[in-house]
Amino acid sequence: MADIKSKIKKLAEKYSKEIIDLRRKIHRNPELSFEEYETSKLVYEKLSKLKIDRVQRVSQTGVVGLIKNKNGKCVGLRADMDALPIHEKTGLPFASKNHGVMHACGHDAHTSMLYGAALILNEIKAELNGSVKLIFQPAEEKNPGGASILIKQGVLENPKVNAIFGQHVMVDKPAGSLGFCEGVTFASQDELYITIYGRQSHGAKPHKSIDPIVTASGVVMALQTIVSRNTSPYDPIVITIGAIHGGTATNIIPSEVKLMGTIRTLNENLRKKSLKLIERTIKGITQAAGAKYKFEISPGYPELNNDSKLTDFARKAAVDFSGSKNVFKSERIMGAEDFAFYLKKKPGTFYRIGAGRTSDIHTQTINIDEKTLPVGAGFMAYLAVKYLNSNQ
Ligand code: NI
Repeated sequence: MADIKSKIKKLAEKYSKEIIDLRRKIHRNPELSFEEYETSKLVYEKLSKLKIDRVQRVSQTGVVGLIKNKNGKCVGLRADMDALPIHEKTGLPFASKNHGVMHACGHDAHTSMLYGAALILNEIKAELNGSVKLIFQPAEEKNPGGASILIKQGVLENPKVNAIFGQHVMVDKPAGSLGFCEGVTFASQDELYITIYGRQSHGAKPHKSIDPIVTASGVVMALQTIVSRNTSPYDPIVITIGAIHGGTATNIIPSEVKLMGTIRTLNENLRKKSLKLIERTIKGITQAAGAKYKFEISPGYPELNNDSKLTDFARKAAVDFSGSKNVFKSERIMGAEDFAFYLKKKPGTFYRIGAGRTSDIHTQTINIDEKTLPVGAGFMAYLAVKYLNSNQ
């Protein structure tokens, strides 16, 4: 394996410029979730030029490639390709030229690193002990998540994927360092849409109204008691109301108020239970006020559960590839990630790759250190080779 490791490292260096160039090109041309037409076309064309065993377009804006040497195991490697509705303020020469859209979550880096891994794996194909499926998926940032759609379209079949790996950049960790966390690592995520219907009146005649603003305020406060009083303090849950809209003037009590929010949990039971508790709370508060309500849930992603054996396997591979000083234990977070859908079907792990000191993901000024990219490409390729040679 020492030989293949140094070979992969050399190839990562050889393709470093190509990987960085692709990242810059994608960064300059970001596209929103489910609209990755140009990005997926670019990936499709680049993979087609490599003459790998198979390149397919899936869904509207996904691309799946296959590099196959022998019959045997198949390992899935995944990257996401979508950008966010954020106006970029990095001032970079390759900053977004699509107004109000930005690669602020590093998916440009994920895509170029997976492409880099494909370049490397294709060159050492004769040494592969099985096949590698390259999954370039759309829409990680938007429900129901590109992963759930690709799985329904059979991305984990033909050949059947035995295990799957994915990576995500992590700011404020040294560029190219690798972080692992076994078990539940990301939270489940569902979107909440609540409308409270009252009765309009003059602001000076509140007794003639059913005030949806006062009622909505009660709902917002009461929802927090689900976190503090109805669920166990040992079982984390977040309920955030992120938007509240209603009313037009100082002296009019409006007829309705709309609330939007998100709920995060770390297990399916709590997820189901708390959605019921949310509705019960809204119902109780609105009934007490004489108001009516509509409650809609947009189901998001389940909790992300990293397989403990394969997480340990990947962590050891990282120590082997980069040295233990470049490997860290990553923390569990209440963010969500649609890679969780793959892990509901197949064992695998979703690990983090340090992107250097910069502002946080989902901000206008994030600027990842490009030294991350060849390491991410090389390690992904190494992990795939190692997995195919293992008895995991
Ligand atoms: Ni992301």
